[in-house]
Amino acid sequence: MKERLIAPSVLAADFGNLQRDLELVNNSEADWFHIDIMDGVFVPNISYGMPVLAAIQKHAKKTIDVHLMIVDPDRYIKEFAALGANNLSVHYEACTHLHRTLQAIKAEGMKAGVAINPHTNVSLLEDTIQDIDLVCVMSVNPGFGGQSFIENTYKKVSQLKEIIERNNAPTLIEIDGGVTSKNAAQLVKAGADVLVAGSFVFKAENPTQTIKELKDLVNS
Ligand code: DX5
Ligand code: ZN
Repeated sequence: MKERLIAPSVLAADFGNLQRDLELVNNSEADWFHIDIMDGVFVPNISYGMPVLAAIQKHAKKTIDVHLMIVDPDRYIKEFAALGANNLSVHYEACTHLHRTLQAIKAEGMKAGVAINPHTNVSLLEDTIQDIDLVCVMSVNPGFGGQSFIENTYKKVSQLKEIIERNNAPTLIEIDGGVTSKNAAQLVKAGADVLVAGSFVFKAENPTQTIKELKDLVNS
């Protein structure tokens, strides 16, 4: 069985103790750092930008998975590569020329990801699936951590898995938003490979233990 991955979302970390929380993830069973970049235009919230990502890169010892919730992401591809992003996901809804954007991300040596909003049908990825390393299925409307999981996500994940298999594509399925130990097992059953978890990890009494519980749950 392919190993399922856990990606704690740094958005839910304590920014006053960022290094501590990054070390916590380094020393845990987590696989990736999920980094949410919001511009206040594509989504109704602003998170953090380049200087914070530079600080994260200094300490993070695992894959840096950047989720861009910004308009016109092509403008920043080179900059994110220089800041150490390993995966760069752009929103389907923010790209006029998605195929070109994916090639530009790969040309900078990063894995190319596409995030889709809850209202975006997975069938729209049929013609680019061969070029997508990672699909980030939004299970909340992007913009904020701590929202509740949208149940329709399971259906989308199964449909996406079918498209990936039919096209023999190498694409991983990542789920982002409202992930907890309550929905994790059903998500991997539907076909998820990577689970992002923000509040569920960082608001837990023992985040390290919570990461381990999630990791065990999805790989059992
Ligand atoms: C939402 C972000 C998510 C968020 C997840 O727009 O893309 O990555 O940090 O946080 P939780 O797990 O709290 O829903
Ligand atoms: Zn995200």
